[in-house]
Amino acid sequence: MSSNRRDIRAKFGDDYVANSRTYTMGINYRFTRYIAKRFNGRRVLETCTGAGFTTIALAREAIHVVTVEIDPVHQEQARQNVEKAGLLDKVTFVAGDVLDNDILNGCPPFDSAFLDPDWAVNSPKHIYRFRYSNTQPPADTLLEIVLGMTSDVAIILPPLLDTRELEGLPRHERQALYLGESQELYCLYFDSLARSHGTTELRQ
Ligand SMILES: C[S@@+](CC[C@H](N)C(=O)[O-])C[C@H]1O[C@@H](n2cnc3c(N)ncnc32)[C@H](O)[C@@H]1O
Repeated sequence: MSSNRRDIRAKFGDDYVANSRTYTMGINYRFTRYIAKRFNGRRVLETCTGAGFTTIALAREAIHVVTVEIDPVHQEQARQNVEKAGLLDKVTFVAGDVLDNDILNGCPPFDSAFLDPDWAVNSPKHIYRFRYSNTQPPADTLLEIVLGMTSDVAIILPPLLDTRELEGLPRHERQALYLGESQELYCLYFDSLARSHGTTELRQ
């Protein structure tokens, strides 16, 4: 995957910094600008930051974003990108493991959360899973912890998921995100972040 200037601008909308990993894992701005609108006027907990592409979209809409990242290289890229976007005063960067109670309990107050765990594919036989997944942090554990702190949560999940795995979760909107004909991601929205309860599509 490329992380050159032209590709970064095409995917994220400006001349940001990224390496091949943060380029690949970052969410296209054609999606994030719409997802972020649901966080308008909110105080948002974001996990995980990556190079800050979702952080920037959220900070444009929210009152404040506190964003947690375990990898110092990713966090430094995010800091540079948020500064380039002119949004440093709206973002608090927290370094550490979001599964560490002290990290989450030490965050400034938030009323909603955006979760984007790392779905790195590590072999051709990789199967995308929600429950007992090998993602970092595990998506089901992360969602359960954060739903215990706020019911207004959105979580990004990969496209090739058996959606029967989502049965048993609190009522939510499941949005399929398409670029052209290709389904890139799912986003689940809980409680007041949902605009309907059922399946919806965002096509870009
Ligand atoms: C999918 S990326 C986030 C991409 C970002 N939302 C964007 O669009 O640019 C996931 C990030 O989670 C971080 N991460 C993995 N495990 C973590 C943990 N336990 N606590 C905090 N961050 C973690 C990874 O280092 C990676 O940067």
